[in-house]
Amino acid sequence: MLWKEKYKIGIEKVDQQHKEIFNRLNNFLNVVRNDEEMKSKLEEIEKTLDFMGQYVVVHFDSEEKVQQEYNYPHYEEHKEVHDRFKEEIINFKQEFEADKYNEDLVMEFSGRLLTWLINHVADEDQKIADYIQK
Ligand SMILES: [Fe+2]
Repeated sequence: MLWKEKYKIGIEKVDQQHKEIFNRLNNFLNVVRNDEEMKSKLEEIEKTLDFMGQYVVVHFDSEEKVQQEYNYPHYEEHKEVHDRFKEEIINFKQEFEADKYNEDLVMEFSGRLLTWLINHVADEDQKIADYIQK
């Protein structure tokens, strides 16, 4: 389980979304890191990519709306980080479609996803919480 209570930012909707994303990522990592052949992992990889491409976009929108509601001063920067991440997912999706059995690529992406998510939620998003509480 990757999700931690300390990641909460105090906005119920956003916290639920974060939790869901961490749960999905957790499943994804378990599948990607097991010893089965790549063939058996493809479905889960595709499912996760679709999820990341859709749910994460909706989640970023919700989070950006909260920031706007509270006049969060770092909204623009934060949105840029979100936009870059969305691009990364799209890029990976394309690379993956072109080379589905490239296990190194998938491993690299899953590592990147994990680091990005933990750093972002545990750091960047916490700053929103700090600001709102003030
Ligand atoms: Fe964020």
